[in-house]
Amino acid sequence: MTKLTWGMIGGGEGSQIGPAHRLGAGLDGEFSFVAGALDHRPDAGRAYGQALGLDADRSYGDWREMLEGERARADRVDLVTVATPNATHFEITKAFLEGGFHVLCEKPMTMTVAEGEEIVSIAKETGKISAVNYGYSGYSLVRHMKAMVARGEIGKIRVVVAEFAHGHHADAADADNPRVRWRYDPAQAGVSAQFADCGIHAMHMASFVTGQEVERLSADTISAIGSRVLEDDAMVNFRMSGGATGRLWTSSVAIGRQHGLTLQVFGETGGLRWAQEQPNQLYYMPLGQRLQVIERGEAGLSPEADRASRVTIGHSEGMPLAFANIYKDLAEAIRARKEGRTMDPAANLYPRAEDGLRSMAAVFAVAESGKAEGKWVDARPPMFR
Ligand code: NAI
Repeated sequence: MTKLTWGMIGGGEGSQIGPAHRLGAGLDGEFSFVAGALDHRPDAGRAYGQALGLDADRSYGDWREMLEGERARADRVDLVTVATPNATHFEITKAFLEGGFHVLCEKPMTMTVAEGEEIVSIAKETGKISAVNYGYSGYSLVRHMKAMVARGEIGKIRVVVAEFAHGHHADAADADNPRVRWRYDPAQAGVSAQFADCGIHAMHMASFVTGQEVERLSADTISAIGSRVLEDDAMVNFRMSGGATGRLWTSSVAIGRQHGLTLQVFGETGGLRWAQEQPNQLYYMPLGQRLQVIERGEAGLSPEADRASRVTIGHSEGMPLAFANIYKDLAEAIRARKEGRTMDPAANLYPRAEDGLRSMAAVFAVAESGKAEGKWVDARPPMFR
């Protein structure tokens, strides 16, 4: 089987998320890494690209050069990942979709709802894949939770509790460090800080697992460190399209919490609990029975979970392998298009531009509600109302 080809924008040397993408895209041997514009400094980007094995003529100094260079080639890349800072996502994603490329963009997909709607429309018009990296939805047991809910194993969902709370910006003495400060500055970060950075992962997870969309929400946002304009902690209550009630806590001042992404789903006949820091166990409590621990990789799990499980039971699997599942889905989606066939439904789980747009509408709804003392507001993008 011919390998697909892959290129990356951002993710240069020392970046936080670049290595996880390269590990994820490379894991299955589906994609060859052949092109990149990896750094905002052209020379550093070219040099690092070549150090990673890119040919000199495909190790580009900036993304516009890469767009032109790849468009001119018969063997242009099959997929482009955008892993640059947030404010550049819209412009780069739009340009590559319009240039005829499939794109996987980091979250948040855009800075405004209008931009999100534009990306959804462009993806529809061009017929190109426009995915968003809610990479935690790639974990095997998260996919198993989704499958259990869809099969009715815990009954109709009553309550979803999602958290993404860490303590890495809790030091008031470090709040003016430029590497931290920009995140809470509206001129650079937009209308929201912690919810837009982490809360949207938790909210996406709640929707992904329940199969329900967030319709309305009420937010209590605070800046626990007083010099911050934007929020560093938020509690969001929401109502979902299938009748579930959601509770979401996100924080960057929760000292002692590390990554802190967890999801609990409570239905009429059972409950589920999963935490990203122990991703290989899923806690399942059937009503009136004993607590069960479901292990990633054990027999009898759903096809979706089996497909996303990569190493033998009992060995740790973590975030780059969850990202690898997004890439595996995308490889199947691209191959199905090339071969003119329907894609494997167990692979049809990658997050899409529509999810990125819904998140952006939720970000603006949280900001609006937070300012209005928790007023309930519509959280849907105008396009989906
Ligand atoms: P970072 O600041 O560590 O790295 C950004 C990289 O992009 C640097 O190498 C920089 O030189 C490069 N860059 C900046 N502007 C560029 C441009 N115009 N063209 C080419 N390269 C450019 O940032 P980090 O933390 O890696 O975040 C990048 C994105 O990934 C953000 O949007 C962030 O929200 C997202 N992210 C997603 C996570 C997830 O779990 N899905 C986790 C962490 C970050």
